[in-house]
Amino acid sequence: MNLVFTGFMGTGKTSVGKKIAEKLNFKFFDTDTFIEKHSQLTISKIFADLGEEIFRQMESEAIEALSEMDSIIISCGGGAVLNTQNLINLSKNGIIINLSASPEQIFQRIKDDKKRPLLQCQNPLNKIKELLKERKKAYENCDFSFNTDNLTVNEIADMILNDKDIAELLKKGIKK
Ligand code: S3P
Repeated sequence: MNLVFTGFMGTGKTSVGKKIAEKLNFKFFDTDTFIEKHSQLTISKIFADLGEEIFRQMESEAIEALSEMDSIIISCGGGAVLNTQNLINLSKNGIIINLSASPEQIFQRIKDDKKRPLLQCQNPLNKIKELLKERKKAYENCDFSFNTDNLTVNEIADMILNDKDIAELLKKGIKK
């Protein structure tokens, strides 16, 4: 049984995922890091030189490979759940946890980060709002959802691990 984190950029998937991996003694994988390692290219370079469509293919391949593993934490890029096949693969052996946050908090968390090609634009806050609206349904389609506004990484990790349903699923090692 894997724990999979999805949600928009800046909702805490990677930091919370790493914290939970530490607590559960699970290995941690991030789809973006997986792609960068295997392609020897940065995400920014992939978007700039190869385009988003190729990036999405690489992301699906990364998810397919990671879904074959067991007892790992997977942090997915924010757009991963837009592809239904990715969700199907992740669901086979994983509990899918969506992290959310308000557009303002997301903006505060990512505003100095130049590594997210989709937000390198004139008005990143507007772009965040627009993409959140477009992706709302996909994010809602996950097994569990937690809002991370005004919480520390530790608080979010504890909130997730203290969830009775998640604890039960992890204990049984079976999917909902
Ligand atoms: C993306 C999110 C990023 C990365 C890429 C595209 C998205 O990952 O995969 O820049 O479409 O939301 P994080 O959510 O880890 O920042």
